[in-house]
Amino acid sequence: MKVVLASSEAVPFAKTGGLADVAAALPKALGAAGHDVWLVLPYYRQLSGPLESTIHPTDVEFPIELGSKSVQARVFRSSLPETDVPVLLIDQPDYFDRPGLYQQDGHDYDDNCERFLFFSRSVLEAVARFEIRPDIVHANDWQTGIIPALLKIEYQETPEFSSTSSVFTIHNMAFQGSFWHWDMLLTGLDWKYFNWRQMEFFGNMNLLKTGIVFSDMVTTVSPTYAQEIQTPEFGCGLNGVLRGRGDSLVGILNGVDTAIWNPATDPHITENYDVNSYKTGKSVCKDHLQQAVSLPRRSDVPLFGMISRMTDQKGFDLIAGCAEDVLQEDLQFVFLGTGDSHYEEILKSLGDRYTDKVAAVIGFDEMLAHQIEASCDIYLMPSRFEPCGLNQMYSLAYGTVPLVHAVGGLADSVIDATTENIAAGHANGLSFNEYSPEQLAHQIRRAITLYHDESAWPQLVSTGMSRDWSWNQSATDYLAVYERALHSREAASQSL
Ligand code: ADP
Ligand code: GLC
Repeated sequence: MKVVLASSEAVPFAKTGGLADVAAALPKALGAAGHDVWLVLPYYRQLSGPLESTIHPTDVEFPIELGSKSVQARVFRSSLPETDVPVLLIDQPDYFDRPGLYQQDGHDYDDNCERFLFFSRSVLEAVARFEIRPDIVHANDWQTGIIPALLKIEYQETPEFSSTSSVFTIHNMAFQGSFWHWDMLLTGLDWKYFNWRQMEFFGNMNLLKTGIVFSDMVTTVSPTYAQEIQTPEFGCGLNGVLRGRGDSLVGILNGVDTAIWNPATDPHITENYDVNSYKTGKSVCKDHLQQAVSLPRRSDVPLFGMISRMTDQKGFDLIAGCAEDVLQEDLQFVFLGTGDSHYEEILKSLGDRYTDKVAAVIGFDEMLAHQIEASCDIYLMPSRFEPCGLNQMYSLAYGTVPLVHAVGGLADSVIDATTENIAAGHANGLSFNEYSPEQLAHQIRRAITLYHDESAWPQLVSTGMSRDWSWNQSATDYLAVYERALHSREAASQSL
């Protein structure tokens, strides 16, 4: 199968969240299974530096028409590290040579619509010029949501895309790429598509909706989230549109890129370990982390960790609501993240007031993220909603017991430590339903009790570490979706 994956971020080139991990891991897994996969990304400023030596110019360049403007795109070429998966990088310094990927100082760039329409059109133009002739173009999130529409409306008749189907993956319904209606002019598409069934949503042009409506198959990143987003509570207004896709909407749980997230080989952690040696390995890592973040070096205290965008999605309102209460217990917290200044301030203030219990690191730090995964005893992920979530899976692989709110991918990967689940050998974490600070406080206390239970705790740790969290299964599921997209394209195009 020949697949082009278009994404606005991918490790190690550029990352703000889990999309970057997925957009690199899936092509790697498909490539390893013998498929011909190409990844296309914007050439951001963040690619300069150590990565630059792996990036080479090509002689491919072309103009992209955006309304009355013509903007030049240049294509550079690289590959995913330690693979032969080619990466095409779309260069236009006016759009991508900026301090942030999507925003600066907490404010989205005003021209985000224009930037990513430019990127999306460039993906198709580059694919045509490299004569890839893909079976599948796989677009991800609103930034590339226009691609399925462009394919269906403009490109399907061209020889380069005559047998190409589209797959669109929703990583988060909360980000929809909703822009004022005049931005329709930048798409180059006819106004007739600006209607409530296709690109319009509450008077705006909505790029997430566009991707959902025009793609041959739609996926999202866990089976539970695929169900949840068809309800008003989680659908962010698009639940009806999603229900309209029927069984063309499929949930596939993300995996773990074991070349990057593996405690046995991770170069960022103090001591490598596996399921047989985690006790010593984790305690060496814990000691080092406690020292690094200036917490008392105690092996007997339960250490809770969290690495996250600091937003409402991730449950920081619950943490803020129960922190003073649970800090009466004998425990330690280490938080790493950036995001809403409101939450950054709350965490910094907890760190200042509880110096022997809370370490709050505000920033984005890849190495520290690995060390937290390896060193902590419990990983906190009380997300209000979570399409998939990667850190709970990294935690399971690292023997760090996750404590999660049972939504989306958290419900699909964490099995609660009930007496029955422990007895059956299935339990791998703690999971709760009621979204309230009192419930989180209760679960944190429950985790402390379990942590001191010398029979249950090792079982939770080893159950998590023993399961295969790699991308193999998910990549197979994506291939099945690609097959279905190839078959359904014909039928879908007739219904337009
Ligand atoms: P989301 O994509 O919603 O932010 P995920 O759990 O899918 O959540 O993925 C988050 C990814 O971003 C993980 O790889 C996590 O380790 C990483 N990450 C988030 N915040 C930081 C940070 N401050 N420093 C380093 N890595 C971070
Ligand atoms: C989004 C979601 C997260 C998911 C990630 C990768 O950022 O918030 O739950 O794991 O995409 O699919």
